[in-house]
Amino acid sequence: MSKKGLLISNDHSVLVTGGAGFIGSNLCDFLIQNGNKVVCLDNFATGKKENISHLLENENFQLIEGDIRNMEDCIKACSLVDYVLHQAALGSVPRSIKDPITSNEVNVTGFLNMLVAARDSDIKRFVYAASSSTYGDSKGLPKMEEVIGKPLSPYAITKYVNELYADIFAKTYGIETIGLRYFNVFGKRQDPNGAYAAVIPKFVMQLMKHQSPNINGDGTYSRDFTYIDNVVQANIKALTTKNKRAANSVYNIAFGERTSLNDLLSILKDYLSEYDPKIKDINTIYGPLREGDVPHSLASIQKAQDLLNYQPTHNLKRGLKEALSWYWDNLK
Ligand SMILES: NC(=O)c1ccc[n+]([C@@H]2O[C@H](COP(=O)([O-])OP(=O)(O)OC[C@H]3O[C@@H](n4cnc5c(N)ncnc54)[C@H](O)[C@@H]3O)[C@@H](O)[C@H]2O)c1
Repeated sequence: MSKKGLLISNDHSVLVTGGAGFIGSNLCDFLIQNGNKVVCLDNFATGKKENISHLLENENFQLIEGDIRNMEDCIKACSLVDYVLHQAALGSVPRSIKDPITSNEVNVTGFLNMLVAARDSDIKRFVYAASSSTYGDSKGLPKMEEVIGKPLSPYAITKYVNELYADIFAKTYGIETIGLRYFNVFGKRQDPNGAYAAVIPKFVMQLMKHQSPNINGDGTYSRDFTYIDNVVQANIKALTTKNKRAANSVYNIAFGERTSLNDLLSILKDYLSEYDPKIKDINTIYGPLREGDVPHSLASIQKAQDLLNYQPTHNLKRGLKEALSWYWDNLK
């Protein structure tokens, strides 16, 4: 994919909410590297200054330390830009089970604030992070955008409500929205620490420290792991597509293959053994299943391919090679 083809325009500017987080900071990097102006709105709830420290001196980058639960912060940020990539949210199913009120305040009220601010600032397009958790208890595989089940967690409800609000704002106020249902994203800067860490960085960190990784269940649960470069590409294509039929809809963003947790772990051990041979012999600990987890997840990416011209470049193995090199260099 030619990077030039993804340029928006030098006189256009993009707000990345949650821009100090894992996905948001990778989006900021791409936009800045391609000559765009970027405003980052983040309250550092889970994001980190170090994820954007290299951008702070760049004249095209502006940080607003603020909270999407505060309408004034949303209005200020939207007034500076033409486009929005809304990533700010509290992720993690277990976090939302422990504290559903805060998840709702950030993910639903914060989202609504951002939509209102975007509407009132004449934002050209509002692209937002939706989630595969919206498929809930639907059993069919691969997941197709039009068929969802009942949500299995407060987090999943918040992400589904986002889609409902985006749809109503498009119909009622004419704002253009595109929702991207991410499937288990991984890559550089994803936080390996804390109770709510995602599975890939958590396993990587445990293996690097010679600790036994814990699998919830027997390891046969599977996921459509999606490398960050694919997610960045999807956001830029959603932001720039001229295909009018693409707007006001939601898309699965994944690679389109599923891998069990057991297979993931064996690939990780294999690749990390190239850095440290002792990692090959580390045992796995199996524990009880986790509340709210869906057994299997696999996306159909046909709709994103057809309407957004989304073409994922990295499968799990290619993505892991790049991600592991970053984790080894930065966290070892
Ligand atoms: N990582 C995944 O696999 C995945 C999967 C599906 C959906 N998503 C969604 O993608 C988005 C980005 O996720 P991520 O993995 O980069 O998580 P992250 O935690 O690294 O990033 C979220 C960012 O939002 C910021 N934030 C949180 N609350 C805020 C608030 N009230 N005001 C302003 N900023 C706030 C955080 O500080 C952080 O920088 C989220 O909306 C998440 O729900 C992620």
